[in-house]
Amino acid sequence: EKRVILDCDPGHDDAISIILAASTISPLKIEAITTVAGNVEVEKNTLNALRVCDVAGLTDVPVAQGSTKPLLKRMEIAEEIHGETGLEGPALPSQPSKTAVQQHAVDLIIEKVMASDGDITLIPTGPLTNIALAMIREPAIIPKINEIVLMGGGTFGNWTPAAEFNIYVDAEAAKVVFESGAPITMFGLDVTHQALATQETVDRLAEIDNHVSHFVVDLLKFFIKTNQDVFGMDGGPIHDACTTAYLIDPSIFDFKHVRVDVETKGEFTYGMTCVDTNGTVNREPNVNFAYQLNQAKLWQLFEDALKGYSY
Ligand code: BDR
Ligand code: CA
Repeated sequence: EKRVILDCDPGHDDAISIILAASTISPLKIEAITTVAGNVEVEKNTLNALRVCDVAGLTDVPVAQGSTKPLLKRMEIAEEIHGETGLEGPALPSQPSKTAVQQHAVDLIIEKVMASDGDITLIPTGPLTNIALAMIREPAIIPKINEIVLMGGGTFGNWTPAAEFNIYVDAEAAKVVFESGAPITMFGLDVTHQALATQETVDRLAEIDNHVSHFVVDLLKFFIKTNQDVFGMDGGPIHDACTTAYLIDPSIFDFKHVRVDVETKGEFTYGMTCVDTNGTVNREPNVNFAYQLNQAKLWQLFEDALKGYSY
């Protein structure tokens, strides 16, 4: 069993990531789900997190709402990819069965990590605002974090030519996290674009026929369409789900241990992650950088996870 906190902005691929983490094949014990402004406003992301908890049967997992804005920059959302609600596609109950806890996400992260034996893994799949704020407010959490397994960045961008959405939304926060010294495993666009869900994927998952697989199929149909329309891609990359897939089966991915720095000053490159794959900067490597995945294994894991839901 591995204790984790999912810090997210659900979001189609965030939702799928949560569903993998909650599945019967997962060794993860979800300590909390915390939300951040990202794909849509934080209140909507929180509502969606609560709805996903209902779908995945996470009745006892606390959901805490976090930052409403990036540290310095104006808020930017990705409605064109995730729709107005942030989770467009499946029919969703308007009222989830539980409510968010009163505690702020940043306080909850600090409390859980400080009370731990250094065995909590953080899984950020949105902008890094909450994680940076937690590190600033209580630096003593940094040596106690087991691992940060995040989705963000890459050697190219999707929101600008240089920057990926999660890093671009709050590059100052990303800089704090990447320079913190905590162990980071990074799933950037180089590898998440290899996790491309297509119509074929949808057909395969539709055969599973339980209520979670139906929910995921409805998510994917919408997400594939918007990724085709906006980015001209051949499918929908389930970016965030790479993080939890890795924690379930690390052998799916190949890594390089490299230096990654976050650009916060560039006129055209704000939010870029400079990934030193050739070892030219002579700075201490700070990131376990995923660059390749085994597609057959990933989709098999995905299928097994969904099959495990019995209702
Ligand atoms: C990231 O941006 C969001 O829209 C997705 O949920 C993912 O976390 C991909 O760039
Ligand atoms: Ca996300």
